[in-house]
Amino acid sequence: MYRTHTCGELNLTNVGQKVVLSGWVQRSRELGGMTFIDLRDRYGITQLAFNLETNAELCSEARKLGREYVVQVEGIVTERHSKNLKIQTGEIEIIVDKINILNPAELPPFTIETETDGGEELRMKYRYLDLRRYVMRDALMLRHQIAQEARKYLSNEEFLEIETPVMIKSTPEGARDFVVPSRMNPGQFYALPQSPQTFKQLLMVAGYDKYFQIVKCFRDEDLRADRQPEFTQIDCEMAFVEQEDILVMFEGLIKHLFKEVLDKKMEEPFPRMTFEDAMSFYGNDKPDIRFGMKIHDITTLTKGKGFKVFDDAAYIGGINANDCSEYTRKQLDELTAFVTRPQIGAKGLVWVKWNADGTFKSTIDKFYSEEDLKKWAEMLKSKPGDLILILAGERKATLKALSELRLEMGTRLGLRDKKTFAPLWVLDFPLLEWDEDTKRFYAMHHPFTSPKAEDTQYLDSDPGKVRANAYDLVINGVEVGGGSIRIHDQHLQQKMFKTLGFTEQDAEIQFGFLMNAFRYGAPPHGGIAFGFDRLTALFAGLESIRDVIAFPKNNSGRDLMVDTPSEISQQALEELSIQVKKDHK
Ligand code: AMO
Repeated sequence: MYRTHTCGELNLTNVGQKVVLSGWVQRSRELGGMTFIDLRDRYGITQLAFNLETNAELCSEARKLGREYVVQVEGIVTERHSKNLKIQTGEIEIIVDKINILNPAELPPFTIETETDGGEELRMKYRYLDLRRYVMRDALMLRHQIAQEARKYLSNEEFLEIETPVMIKSTPEGARDFVVPSRMNPGQFYALPQSPQTFKQLLMVAGYDKYFQIVKCFRDEDLRADRQPEFTQIDCEMAFVEQEDILVMFEGLIKHLFKEVLDKKMEEPFPRMTFEDAMSFYGNDKPDIRFGMKIHDITTLTKGKGFKVFDDAAYIGGINANDCSEYTRKQLDELTAFVTRPQIGAKGLVWVKWNADGTFKSTIDKFYSEEDLKKWAEMLKSKPGDLILILAGERKATLKALSELRLEMGTRLGLRDKKTFAPLWVLDFPLLEWDEDTKRFYAMHHPFTSPKAEDTQYLDSDPGKVRANAYDLVINGVEVGGGSIRIHDQHLQQKMFKTLGFTEQDAEIQFGFLMNAFRYGAPPHGGIAFGFDRLTALFAGLESIRDVIAFPKNNSGRDLMVDTPSEISQQALEELSIQVKKDHK
């Protein structure tokens, strides 16, 4: 028997017992004639004690144990003199009388503690060591708990967990596909699913009216802190539902997770906002509503006073930073530098201070009277003591820059507390998005999303005006989930493909199977998918989803530990009938 207990469970009630523990040597220290070793496993740390006076041989053996050695010890549980009440086992130690080295270890390349000296790349390369750190363990435990609670909620609601294939045909979620060559069908490829979208719709046609799956999805797209090439969704679909049914069911899921996992009761219904309002007042489609500081359009108030920048701009908008009129020149210069960075791209920043004494000071005093500025201030709901920040330019780009500035100010003012959660449904997304480069419309969500009944009349005449029955769940500015009510009518689906520029033949090749299924009695249906990694990172208060994935890829899509993607042998290429271009690098 390797162990009678784990390293995380012994306490004063076990004093006097003979126990056997196995684990890793976290560290050892010597104090007078005593040697102490912290023995670690995933459950906790137990202190081992060795006394030079009473057992010199064993003590010198203990002193030779290196960090991360795997050892088994036998000894008696004893009450500690100096207790550590921060850990569960902190009131006891083991007076060891036998050590068995199960496996020695080389010195690890970084310290295996919460505050490690290892950079991210190094930790990725030795991920199995990184995962020994309790911060990683906690993230994986949280992930496990969320998965279990999601399963519990959905199973209680009679959802069936059904697996769908991983080697499929291209799915249209808007990214590039990862493909897998077929040896048995030379020159042909499977695509890895960007999501199980078409399969879950086919399950609805098949009559499985409540489906879910915690499932890997694969997208070849540019990576960021919240994007991985393979990530996990809690993917769901229901038949015989309208948008409202879906919102209620999955708001229930999220509330269940908050309550069971974080012990946070969310009694109020989640607020809802249209896409249009999100764009106008927050400058993006995933507003962080932990704080106000809404964007206001002051275009009409600013024109015709001789300030060329504003007179020439299509849109002028501002935000109000409460109680910031005492911002220093340096702070304002920092904000200007922030908005003019190439990623944000504003030309400059106009600021107006409404001083506590009621006077105004601004970068544009020359052009605008106090009366003018007061009008802006009223529009922005400012008060004396506040600071107004204004950007001007083309509408879409300026709103985007204002959105970044708003978030930056929110962060600077401490308004984005990680332990505060502000969920929000964003509704009424446009069905289509125009792309200037390719001069065609793309589905904003995916091509199976249904248009709002009252807007279908514009599908031919003004497609950009059509709104979709689509919704996103946003929490703290993170898009946590998204879905839609689907088209279940084959004719409308064909029309949609046509609007998206598919020829009848292309549509048939790519989605013929779905069109066929729709001919055999497709029920009205809709669904949603949650980004499981994003949800976990949010619950954990972490910025990057890499920190809640056991074996993630880095920002170039590489797994540094197994060193992949990598080349394959000439023989393997030949079997797959593949020739790699010589100049591919
Ligand atoms: P969508 O593309 O919006 O919808 O994806 C759903 C959710 O998945 C998460 N997500 C990602 N997480 C990590 N890395 C990525 N690369 C990544 N891409 C997306 C986001 C997102 O909200 N089939 C539809 C769902 C449906 O209509 O039911 C779909 O996949 O949190």
